Amino acid sequence: MTGGAGFIGTSLARRLVEENEIVILDNLHRDSLTGTDLAEHPNLRFVQGDVLDLPLVRELSARATHVVHMAAIAGVDKVLESPVRTMRVNLIGTYNVLEAAHEAGTIERLVDFSTSEVFGTHAYKVEETHVTSQGSVGEARWTYAVSSTSMGPARSAAAPFTTSLSGRSPTRRS
Ligand SMILES: NC(=O)c1ccc[n+]([C@@H]2O[C@H](COP(=O)([O-])OP(=O)(O)OC[C@H]3O[C@@H](n4cnc5c(N)ncnc54)[C@H](O)[C@@H]3O)[C@@H](O)[C@H]2O)c1
Repeated sequence: MTGGAGFIGTSLARRLVEENEIVILDNLHRDSLTGTDLAEHPNLRFVQGDVLDLPLVRELSARATHVVHMAAIAGVDKVLESPVRTMRVNLIGTYNVLEAAHEAGTIERLVDFSTSEVFGTHAYKVEETHVTSQGSVGEARWTYAVSSTSMGPARSAAAPFTTSLSGRSPTRRS
């Protein structure tokens, strides 16, 4: 579980830990794990590290059967605060996880978390199969949505990526 020390990750790990051996990879950018009973569980191994560290992701994937990828910079506000890091972690981090899982050859299932932003600003009772939407990629809100939609409808992914890597705020492109 990448991002397993996060909000969703710790809840999911709690549900699964009795019947599974879980390895959590998390850099503790956020930390809902430390000091909990879960952290001490014998079926859980915590590795402090970064999804941008491809050799480490490869090493941990090599013996895995399932991967749940939740490591992300979550939250629209983070795009404004830290746009380049957000794009790196959400895009390159996801690429690393996919690449390592593919190379491992042992993975039966990989679950990748998208942001709920893809269901628009008024999402209500949405399901995974529902149509996703994307507003103007010049707006921070949608730039974030694209960055967290690696498996989804990233129709214009290149545009916000280029904008954010330039180090500028993700404002409308000319
Ligand atoms: N919380 C929600 O309501 C919600 C809804 C829909 C989708 N999601 C998505 O689910 C995923 C997890 O969300 P969350 O609410 O648990 O967020 P979170 O911030 O609590 O958890 C993310 C975890 O990723 C870790 N992390 C960040 N950068 C990392 C890096 N470079 N390497 C390794 N670990 C790193 C953080 O330390 C954190 O523990 C995100 O992709 C988010 O967009 C969340």
